[in-house]
Amino acid sequence: MVKRKTCVFISGRGSNLKNLIFHSRDNNFPIKISLIISNDKNAYGINYAKKFQIPFIIINTKLRNCENKILLNLKKYKITFICLAGYMKIISSSLIKKFNKRIINIHPSLLPKFKGLNTFSRMLKNKEKKAGCTVHYVNEKLDSGITITRKSFFIDSKDNELLLKKKTQILEYQAFPEAIIKIFRNN
Ligand code: GRF
Repeated sequence: MVKRKTCVFISGRGSNLKNLIFHSRDNNFPIKISLIISNDKNAYGINYAKKFQIPFIIINTKLRNCENKILLNLKKYKITFICLAGYMKIISSSLIKKFNKRIINIHPSLLPKFKGLNTFSRMLKNKEKKAGCTVHYVNEKLDSGITITRKSFFIDSKDNELLLKKKTQILEYQAFPEAIIKIFRNN
């Protein structure tokens, strides 16, 4: 199988990145992680790039040439697919256009509910019955692209924000690779 050269964008802990790295080591998994981009030099996830010897770059989104740096590196590493895994910045519309239907994101709610930040506190405040995660294509509107995979669970009366996050992330580790397999199954 020819694996898609993929770039994973992160900003923090990188547990989804780590999970994708493990999956990508399987010959039958459709992507190879060829590049990691972080907008934060202190993101813990960078350690996985180092540990697994995957090229990585740090970008400073405050600098005007940052978009160029991203595009140049995507070209350099022949990237054809992008996964946003906890990337806390908005992706530029030119990048979205260039990678039309080839950028996906994982979000910790059952979209279209709870787009944006602080999903768990808003769910609890709203007395939601269910929580979960969504993997979706990225378009120009925040957390609004077509859904690829969703996974849900029932919220327990004892659940707080931390527990919701833990339970959601367990589902994320299944949903992200499943979504990737689903995308490339027919391609
Ligand atoms: C995930 O929960 C994801 O849903 C959200 O950011 C979090 C990233 O976690 N977009 P990690 O950095 O992969 O541990």
